[in-house]
Amino acid sequence: MSFRKEFLWGAATAAYQIEGAAFEDGKGPSVWDMFCRKENAIWNNQNGDVACDHYHRYKEDVALMKKIGLKAYRFSISWPRVLPEGAGAVNPKGLAFYDRLVDELLKAGITPFITLFHWDYPYALYCRGGWLNPSSPDWFADYARVLADKLSDRVRHWMTLNEPQCFIGAHQSGKHAPGDILGWKEVLRAGHHALLAHGKAVQTIRAASRTKPLIGYAPVGIASNPASTRSADVRAARTATFAVTARNVWNAAWWLDPVFCGHYPEDGLKIFGADAPRPRPGDMETISQPLDFCGINVYHGNTVRAGRNGQPEPVPLPPGHALSAFRWPVTPESLYWAPKFFYERYRKPIYITENGISGMDWVALDGQVHDPGRIDFMTRYLRALERAVREGVEVHGYFTWSVMDNFEWAEGFKERFGLIYVDFPTQRRILKDSAYWYRDVIATRGRALKS
Ligand code: FCB
Repeated sequence: MSFRKEFLWGAATAAYQIEGAAFEDGKGPSVWDMFCRKENAIWNNQNGDVACDHYHRYKEDVALMKKIGLKAYRFSISWPRVLPEGAGAVNPKGLAFYDRLVDELLKAGITPFITLFHWDYPYALYCRGGWLNPSSPDWFADYARVLADKLSDRVRHWMTLNEPQCFIGAHQSGKHAPGDILGWKEVLRAGHHALLAHGKAVQTIRAASRTKPLIGYAPVGIASNPASTRSADVRAARTATFAVTARNVWNAAWWLDPVFCGHYPEDGLKIFGADAPRPRPGDMETISQPLDFCGINVYHGNTVRAGRNGQPEPVPLPPGHALSAFRWPVTPESLYWAPKFFYERYRKPIYITENGISGMDWVALDGQVHDPGRIDFMTRYLRALERAVREGVEVHGYFTWSVMDNFEWAEGFKERFGLIYVDFPTQRRILKDSAYWYRDVIATRGRALKS
């Protein structure tokens, strides 16, 4: 196995999905707190008010992470917990929670990886225009400053935004908070502000950190897999991975080219035409601050082959292809091609910041949670990742989604992605079979993937 000693075996969560304590200790509401109040916005009208109650149970949860042997833990900070109005006065109790959490992780020998923003935007700022407000990048930078001041003596790894494709795309679908449906001009303006927010936060963290920070980003690593290893198919898949072919924010290049290359992709600018953002002088420099790593969230990919003139042509899934409980296709080769393509294009060390599967998990008659599907899924995906590493792709770590079952946004508690089973009515945690299996993978530095 080619995983080095320093490879960070991790798992991830996000604040709104696990913390609960939605209205406690001075926390301000987020757009998700409000969105969950909208009838039928969420499966069975559920909400994250309590979620995994991690705010109160973080010690138990960190102890379980330690038991699994996690080397790193990616979590996000709830912006309105720290700044109830989004800007201005700090909520000391909210900030103290993350202070304690970081200490607890370090005590357990687990490296904290902080995501500044994983979708729970402060409702107070939404009322001031949210991402559409040209001040929103500065609000975000000020928030980043508060965190760097408090935590950067112990935290080195930071990610700015999680999946702009989703939280900006939400302004187009209305299916996630805040639930508004806007036209393309506004969606892309909000996106441009989010990218500026990213850049300004990077500058802020670099300037304010008390230890040398390592800063990255966690977009969705949307990538196509080639139908075969023929070079024409591989070329077609690479082209498809970085193409913008429709008025759609579900692509990679629109969100990564500005950050890593300093410009929006030409094909996207053409497609969006008059609706495309008009960057002011200096914007693209701000957005393309040098980063230390490229995080990508990878769950699955579509397949393409070289069609006429070598152009990518979609290859549909064969009937009966493996699907998760969420009905997402299982495509292990994505963890080979996505890191390879993103590394080739952006030349930054890669972290897989999310990868995992929702399963039909329940407590069996023997009191255990058996999830062979997750073990098989992770084995296949991690073997694909290992192949990328073996061939020279610089991958520094892997975070499985998720540490524990949690509130899966519009799907409520329907989807179970965790290594740890959570019985929500009692908040009892049970390590699933996959948690014990992952412990062995970590302990053997991946050798257990072979047997
Ligand atoms: C990703 C999100 C994460 C989780 C997984 C299943 O898109 O970043 O919060 O919901 O999907």
